[in-house]
Amino acid sequence: QMSDEERRFQERIDEGVRIEARDWMPEAYRKTLVRQISQHAHSEVVGMLPEGNWITRAPSLKRKAILMAKVQDEAGHGLYLYSAAETLGVSRDKLVDDLLSGKAKYSSIFNYPTLNWADIGMIGWLVDGSAIINQIPLCRCSYGPYARAMVRVCKEESFHQRQGYDLLIQMCLHGTPEQKAMAQDSINRWWWPALMMFGPSDADSTNSAQSMQWKIKLFSNDELRQKMVDQTVPQAEYLGLTIPDPDLRWNEERGHYDFGEIDWDEFWAVIKGNGPCNRERLQARVDAHENGAWFREALDAHAQKQEAIRKVA
Ligand code: ACO
Repeated sequence: QMSDEERRFQERIDEGVRIEARDWMPEAYRKTLVRQISQHAHSEVVGMLPEGNWITRAPSLKRKAILMAKVQDEAGHGLYLYSAAETLGVSRDKLVDDLLSGKAKYSSIFNYPTLNWADIGMIGWLVDGSAIINQIPLCRCSYGPYARAMVRVCKEESFHQRQGYDLLIQMCLHGTPEQKAMAQDSINRWWWPALMMFGPSDADSTNSAQSMQWKIKLFSNDELRQKMVDQTVPQAEYLGLTIPDPDLRWNEERGHYDFGEIDWDEFWAVIKGNGPCNRERLQARVDAHENGAWFREALDAHAQKQEAIRKVA
């Protein structure tokens, strides 16, 4: 049963009014946003690891500069998103603690290893490509600070997607047979995990109904996944790569591609912490946090010193 306040809140949402940090909101709306925005922030930060791994091995100065810029962008996205979450009254320290203790989720995709250079292109094309499809609608979501953060994130993601596709054009259309084979090996490994990024099927998506009513989500997981497949298949054809799905075919009647069933056992295993790199990723974050302790202490000491000087003056 909705209270009067809750009813008025839903009416504002239905009218397309943006909710701002100081507005009244149901506790469950706040909680859902903290959950989604913090998971999103953690994904950006953990997402630096698989690609950061290749910075020292980029094949040219140009590719190295592009990759460094991209990985730095991901750090920036994490920071905008933690800031957006903080407007909901939760502290960044608490969110980071939840990530490091293994309590908070982050995107399943970043628990897969980057084994060859084509993986860097594949992540840009498929992973950042999927992220854009999921995030463009978030620019119009009901919570103002999240929606506004997404505008800039999406512009940068678009550069990430293009640099990935450009890298793969180079390897597949202008490269050696060995380079083309690396790209095929890469899509064989990344295709299905990229489809999993959109979350469980609508039937198993516990949060969707409420999040769609609140216009946090504007499209369902399956709708966005279909959009990704429809958009990506012609791009794969242009590269001359084979998508590793024997059931993939154009359905004239639906006006969409049909595609095979995702291995949901694998999806849930990765989410529960048992993917190929979950432990390694988390350990890398814990180490980075511990190695940065001296710097946080120094910042604190400096702030206290400045405060003391101000008091004397
Ligand atoms: N990886 C990890 N966890 C996932 C994934 C995934 N790919 N998909 C769903 N989940 C989790 C959900 O967080 C939820 O867990 P919780 O209830 O314990 O929090 C559970 O599985 C059930 O899923 P849904 O009910 O469908 O969850 P939700 O409504 O939050 O939808 C989605 C999931 C689509 C990922 C949504 O949270 C979202 O749009 N998030 C913002 C985008 C984002 O986080 N992108 C990160 C990757 S992109 C990038 O960083 C480059």
